[in-house]
Amino acid sequence: MQIQPTSPISVPTPCYVYDTALLARTLDAIKAQTAGHDNFHVHYAIKANANPKLLGLIVDAGLGADCVSGGEIEVALQAGFPASKIVFAGVGKADWEITLALQKGIGLFNVESTEELEIIHSIATDLNIRARVSFRINPDVGAHTHAHITTGKAENKFGIDMTDMIAAIRKAEAMPLVDFMGLHFHIGSQLLDMSDFEALCDRINELQIILEKEGLYAHHINVGGGLGIDYERPTEHPIPDFKAYFDTFKQRLHLREGQQLHFELGRSIVGQTGTLLTRVLYVKHGHQKQFAIVDAGMTELIRPALYGARHAIENLSAQARMDSMHDGEVRTSPTETYDVVGPICESSDVFAKELSLPETRRGDLMAIRSAGAYGETMASCYNCRPLPPTFTTEELFQQP
Ligand code: LLP
Repeated sequence: MQIQPTSPISVPTPCYVYDTALLARTLDAIKAQTAGHDNFHVHYAIKANANPKLLGLIVDAGLGADCVSGGEIEVALQAGFPASKIVFAGVGKADWEITLALQKGIGLFNVESTEELEIIHSIATDLNIRARVSFRINPDVGAHTHAHITTGKAENKFGIDMTDMIAAIRKAEAMPLVDFMGLHFHIGSQLLDMSDFEALCDRINELQIILEKEGLYAHHINVGGGLGIDYERPTEHPIPDFKAYFDTFKQRLHLREGQQLHFELGRSIVGQTGTLLTRVLYVKHGHQKQFAIVDAGMTELIRPALYGARHAIENLSAQARMDSMHDGEVRTSPTETYDVVGPICESSDVFAKELSLPETRRGDLMAIRSAGAYGETMASCYNCRPLPPTFTTEELFQQP
């Protein structure tokens, strides 16, 4: 999101600001790439951002929801996602969550083990409600991303081993209240190299041949999420390359007659729409370094501390000072090097090291960009800090 230097400076910080116009354009871009493919179904991964101000727009665009907890199912239903368009994934579904999902009539369980399948069946039997299940298969496909967000390798905890796929399906088919619906995959997140998705397609093509030999048919193929965003240049690339992404599946995946293709995108839908606004509390001149200590920390955005993620940081106030210079003055500010750090009592509470910024002062408003996905949802109250308020761009610009 681009907040202009003239934006209201009275905003309480730290806070999240969401660019709803950009979200609308992003959803339009998805629609454009899936138009004419009636068997393509895009689900939004609620875990990326569960803010109701965004969910409403996503519901209106006709997307389904990918949930990983009972809480997310509740949030999705409240936001207006039809139960039939909700899929429920997750390696450790609790009994109450399975019960809730069945009672609410969600579309599908993405089942991660035969142990889980048995519990789903036993709860479905108690409730006398049919459970539609897909199996999450671990495709053992490497993804070029941070080790903590790859999920499709054999050593990861997710999914059922490919060699156990047929036995799991047979088991489901023998259960009176279970309907086997299809296969689910998810290889990782923040993937920008389409070769990872190509490798997934190739793997699914192989598995489909195995299914056919066994006389089995998957109504649904769910390829998960994972499309990445440009954290380095959010202004230049506000909308991810949905064309390259969807084309990969259109061209490479060999779907059978009648098969429905499901996607579960999170970050690529909301990532660029969110900015964490924060204010500089102190510019501290250490012996070796200069620190810009800001009022947001790993409590509001944990990605840098947890994954070493880099988010572009802009000093909006310094920009405004430059822009307000009179004609004739040189519109530049001396650049200085800062470590941008938060106030939390952890040495990993660092947003950026050795960052070049225009001369920065106490009170300056900073924008930490591309924070729409896994920002607010991963916020915590560590150090007894309150959760950050959130605004849409409309709300912010309506302020007096
Ligand atoms: N489907 C499944 C089964 C998933 O596990 C995930 C994300 C998604 C879909 C959505 O993936 P996306 O399109 O957002 O890449 N907190 C980390 C990301 C964790 C992703 C977890 N699973 C981060 O901040 O980078």
